[in-house]
Amino acid sequence: MNEPTEKQVHDQSLLGIYDHPTDVTAGQWSVSRSDRPHMYRIAHRRSSGEMHIDTVVDLDNLESKLQKWRREGFVRHETDMPKKEPAHRATFMKDLRASTPSDRATAPLSAGTAIVGGVPMPLGASGPLVPPVNPAYLFAARSENVLFDILENRRIMLIGHTGTGKTSLIEQVAAHTNQGVLRSNMNGQTTVGDFVGFWTVKGGETIWVDGVLPTAMREGLWLIVDEVDFAEPAILAVLTAVLEPGGRLLLKEKGNEIVAPHPSFRLFATANAVGSMGQYRHLYQGANLMNEAFLDRWRVYHIDYLSREDEARVLERTFSGRISPEMAQTLASIAAECREAFIREDLASAFSTRRLLDWTELMLRTGNPETAAGPTIYSKISAEDAALVRSIIQHHIALDD
Ligand SMILES: Nc1ncnc2c1ncn2[C@@H]1O[C@H](COP(=O)(O)OP(=O)(O)OP(=O)(O)O)[C@@H](O)[C@H]1O
Ligand SMILES: [Mg+2]
Repeated sequence: MNEPTEKQVHDQSLLGIYDHPTDVTAGQWSVSRSDRPHMYRIAHRRSSGEMHIDTVVDLDNLESKLQKWRREGFVRHETDMPKKEPAHRATFMKDLRASTPSDRATAPLSAGTAIVGGVPMPLGASGPLVPPVNPAYLFAARSENVLFDILENRRIMLIGHTGTGKTSLIEQVAAHTNQGVLRSNMNGQTTVGDFVGFWTVKGGETIWVDGVLPTAMREGLWLIVDEVDFAEPAILAVLTAVLEPGGRLLLKEKGNEIVAPHPSFRLFATANAVGSMGQYRHLYQGANLMNEAFLDRWRVYHIDYLSREDEARVLERTFSGRISPEMAQTLASIAAECREAFIREDLASAFSTRRLLDWTELMLRTGNPETAAGPTIYSKISAEDAALVRSIIQHHIALDD
């Protein structure tokens, strides 16, 4: 490797530049760290650019020089001041607002449309694969852009910790729009055959069986590829082919048959440790890194836990009439505090909405938050973590003896 030039070293250690605001002939002083400990290098450059003083001084000497320059009218030039604004910096946001529709959600409602989370969505073809509506489901503000992306036929990847609501968001949109859904989990035995299709012998005849992808594409179903960060490379290669809207699937195994997507077909993926969630990969062992070219073909949404208020509302709606608003607030606060402890790395496991709902359900049956926390929380985490969660619970709930 080349040694850095003297100028580069000088620039790296630059502490300040002093110039005269009115006297252009005064030139410029610069102060930088010297390579000798506790010593500073001061240099003066004439307005012509010529460097004629370049010397090393100690701190006392530097301070007296700084006072002298100040007396002479030199001022510190803000080296970290933003550079001159690019010409259109100020008008960009105004121009953007002028081109952004402000009333997308208020388009006239046609017969085959349902309002989901405030967004008009076309109804699907119904059928046995439509997920059941969860009456307690709350379309939080985080859903809106995902809904518009579904309308625009974008490929959508939802990333986030386990149990934040990735799968249920897609399923509940489908449930409210009578749209059939297929799910395929990549963290298991899903093979390319399951995904794409395979030949088999039935009644003495060799027949082709479509996998989940061509089935969804032909029948206009929504396909959720769960835990896509665990998918084997051959499946990722197949997926990539259909990531462009209108992308066709080539069934090589079936004599290069081409499967064109039905207009209602949509493709979703969920993952725990992809992209901005990569910092948590150690929690999701075995998850693969997804390359940028693959990620760039999706809209990737980070689905975080519901806010404390939204989670309290979900609790109230889920256990309607069985828990008071105050109880719901308390439980949501416990979950939120456990998550804060997780972010601080005081807790090794996150506290999912799924865990909170399950704990609450068992608590309502047993009448005892501590007993209910056994199978729903404590048994799933280390003794140390359980002790911390217990202390958070006890901070919020005065448990009976
Ligand atoms: N907005 C919401 N309203 C009501 N319930 C919700 C909401 N979001 C999540 N839940 C509930 O939280 C639980 C977990 O949600 P979900 O299965 O969608 O999580 P996930 O992010 O897909 O988890 P994983 O990564 O483990 O697959 C479900 O029981 C779901 O109903
Ligand atoms: Mg899921």
